[in-house]
Amino acid sequence: MQIRPFQPVDEESVIVLWERCELTRPWNDPRRDIARKLAEDPSLFLVGVEAGTVIASAMAGYDGHRGWVHYLAIHPDHQGQGLGTSLLAAVERALQARGCPKLMLMVRNEHPELVEYYRRQGYDDGDFVTLGKRLIADD
Ligand SMILES: CC(C)(COP(=O)(O)OP(=O)(O)OC[C@H]1O[C@@H](n2cnc3c(N)ncnc32)[C@H](O)[C@@H]1OP(=O)(O)O)[C@@H](O)C(=O)NCCC(=O)NCCS
Repeated sequence: MQIRPFQPVDEESVIVLWERCELTRPWNDPRRDIARKLAEDPSLFLVGVEAGTVIASAMAGYDGHRGWVHYLAIHPDHQGQGLGTSLLAAVERALQARGCPKLMLMVRNEHPELVEYYRRQGYDDGDFVTLGKRLIADD
């Protein structure tokens, strides 16, 4: 799998990937999410390509204090081959190169099994609760 920055031509395949990976939610319009990322700092929005097809994505960013990664996705036909691990490692390297001291990610409560996956990648729970407030409604 070749890892490279997202390009606008990838939009449809990335949205199909997110749908296959069940990462889309009615309150997060994927097109608006992509447009916002491209307008802000697209450099850490990565895709994984194999034989010309987008099979992976990771949308990361650095706010000056923490890095965050969202939409980590490996196409179901390619899961379990270590691709998620190597894409996450690529995100970590890119953030580290920018001087980002810590990478954060969120796991939905409906996927508790993923917490174990991330623990094995060196992530821990931390002594905090993540809170959020919607500022723009997408639905
Ligand atoms: C989670 C995800 C990115 C992992 O990518 P992947 O390429 O399948 O993972 P890897 O091959 O690197 O997995 C390494 C290990 O994690 C395990 N693993 C993978 N997905 C897992 C899951 N959903 N739950 C628990 N363990 C998982 C693998 O069995 C493997 O274990 P092993 O090394 O002991 O054999 C991928 O399964 C995915 O896209 N899932 C759907 C979207 C999603 O939930 N994204 C995360 C949002 S927070």
